[in-house]
Amino acid sequence: MVQGAVNRNTKLTEEWLQNYVDDWVSFYHRQTEEGEVASYIPILKEADKNHLGISIISKNGINIHSGNVDIPFTIQSISKVFMFIVACMERGIPYVLDRVDVEPTGEAFNSIMHLEMRQVKKPFNPLVNAGAITVTSMLYGDTSDQKLEALFQLFERMLGFRPKLNKDVYESESETSVRNRAIGYYLVELGFLESELELTLETYFKQCSIEIATRDLAQMGMILANDGEDPKTGLEIIPRQVARLAKALMLTCGMYEASGKFAAYVGIPAKSGVSGGIVAVAPPRIREDDLPFLEGCGIGVYGPALDKQGNSVAGIRLLRHIAKQWDLSIF
Ligand code: DON
Repeated sequence: MVQGAVNRNTKLTEEWLQNYVDDWVSFYHRQTEEGEVASYIPILKEADKNHLGISIISKNGINIHSGNVDIPFTIQSISKVFMFIVACMERGIPYVLDRVDVEPTGEAFNSIMHLEMRQVKKPFNPLVNAGAITVTSMLYGDTSDQKLEALFQLFERMLGFRPKLNKDVYESESETSVRNRAIGYYLVELGFLESELELTLETYFKQCSIEIATRDLAQMGMILANDGEDPKTGLEIIPRQVARLAKALMLTCGMYEASGKFAAYVGIPAKSGVSGGIVAVAPPRIREDDLPFLEGCGIGVYGPALDKQGNSVAGIRLLRHIAKQWDLSIF
């Protein structure tokens, strides 16, 4: 029996759902002990590994927020989804997909192996670093701020405010990221970059350093669940085809070498970042029974203690639990 499933006479109130989520968050809070905060970007070590928070926002305006939801954190790799969306909107889908593939790698997010070992014609997908840096190079602009403008505008349309750049995180990554520079040089050698390397990397480090909170991720996820349309205004924020493509990539590549397991055990598109954020998208479902969020919802998680693949250890388990209890899987 699905926990929290109700008979047809019970109202799925926000308060009722909130109580369930509060219980689940306090249970999974303890499991943050099993992970470690990212340390390869020095400033990320300052995060509190015991934090865990979740926000769920439905298309119908239900808002659930539980745990450490007021801690700002940097978007990191989750930005790759939205930079891909922006590139598709600026350049068109064919242009982007001519230059970056849509295949999972089964390798770590910052792997160089494929670029070096195989005669690849383009990076494997926009959600690993090689593909993401290539996508960033496609954006219009002669400065990193010009290149980032369309991303900030997209966030502003989705969130109703313009998020800020965390300068300290940007500088910390920019000063230390030798691996991304190595990937960048491979990309230059292979002729994949559309803009000069330093400009591209500066833009990439900045896009990773945009500060958000769980509610922002949930709001972004909800708009993706609604195929790119803002349910309040009916306005198209992201073209439907682009939103669908982004969700397919999240499902197949969004959790790096744990993407297969996440699809099997959670079953919804999601994207993680090394600061501990996860955005997840539960699309609308047609079901006879009375389950929460049949209309679709977005979920934002923050839990900086990471597993070996660089995904929030307690965040993944919490999502798996919620998806099981509420039968969110798309399969
Ligand atoms: O490229 C990097 O190292 C980071 N700025 C982003 C990496 C990231 O979030 C990977 N996600 N799990």
